[in-house]
Amino acid sequence: MSPDLRVNIAGVEFENPIMTASGCCGYGEELATVFPLAKLGALVTKSITLNPRLGHPPPRTAETASGMLNAIGLANVGVDRFITEKIPFLEKQKTKIIVNVAGARLAEYVEVCRRLADVERVDMVEVNISCPNVDEGGMEFGSDPTLTEKSIAAVKSVFPRPVIAKLSPNVTSITEIAMAAQQGGADAFSVINSLVGTTIDVDTWQPRLTNNKGGLTGPAIKPVALAMVNAVYEKCRLPIIGIGGIACASDAVEFFLCGATAIQIGTSLFVEPDLPVKMIRGLKEYLKKKKQGSIRDLIGKVRKY
Ligand SMILES: Cc1cc2nc3c(=O)[nH]c(=O)nc-3n(C[C@H](O)[C@H](O)[C@H](O)COP(=O)(O)O)c2cc1C
Repeated sequence: MSPDLRVNIAGVEFENPIMTASGCCGYGEELATVFPLAKLGALVTKSITLNPRLGHPPPRTAETASGMLNAIGLANVGVDRFITEKIPFLEKQKTKIIVNVAGARLAEYVEVCRRLADVERVDMVEVNISCPNVDEGGMEFGSDPTLTEKSIAAVKSVFPRPVIAKLSPNVTSITEIAMAAQQGGADAFSVINSLVGTTIDVDTWQPRLTNNKGGLTGPAIKPVALAMVNAVYEKCRLPIIGIGGIACASDAVEFFLCGATAIQIGTSLFVEPDLPVKMIRGLKEYLKKKKQGSIRDLIGKVRKY
């Protein structure tokens, strides 16, 4: 019998635990030319804000050792165009749809979620309280426990389906923020967003990003992400979606063992857009080799010294 890859997060059933990470495949249209999106457990959209945003001027990405920096600046079409122009495409995809939401002010998060509440096709929202790339990118909401609790509670009051809090690694204690999000009524966590970093051109002495700094992602951040997933798993009782540098099935397995129920693939999609499909095969082979019937049998099973 084929191993069972299904997982359940906050009552939502996913065919498999593989999701795209926000900002790494827009609204899914291009990725759908590579493989049917039905192969994914869920598609997570780019952060959606109240008004359209152009983001920062280029250069806004730069390659680094085992990763990349980006300072896109939350470029997106805004919630109204998202609903009229992108939802009709997403409605046809046989996968779960998670809309990532960002804002400058709490009222903006709330208004975006209020408008998404009526769109039944949106299965969950993922609240980006962790964007390091814009001054008003919500990181203040994700680095102060009181604001975290307040913002999650406010979103919960207008959005009737499950709410995921996407946590920032750029904090002193990620578990303190996770506990605050749980207190605010979050249904799940996404762990982690990018780490603040920069890179300098030594000829011009200028940063290689017009925003001067950006978010570090890719394989370089995987060990940080794993430690944070495990810390949140041990402290909190909500399901975790693990994110950070996942580039193959065995990377994903590490996240499940550390406590993730599902994973997201970001930077690696730029290198290998069909990675989700390969990963489904890889996870099934791994489960067979380890004589495990279900991916759920791995969650949190790390054997610590
Ligand atoms: C180009 C780029 C754009 C991103 N945009 C967003 C975004 O709009 N909202 C968000 O919550 N995270 C965004 N992220 C962060 C990713 O969703 C993910 O948390 C991070 O990249 C770590 O995963 P990875 O190492 O697999 O890329 C972005 C990442 C990249 C590389």
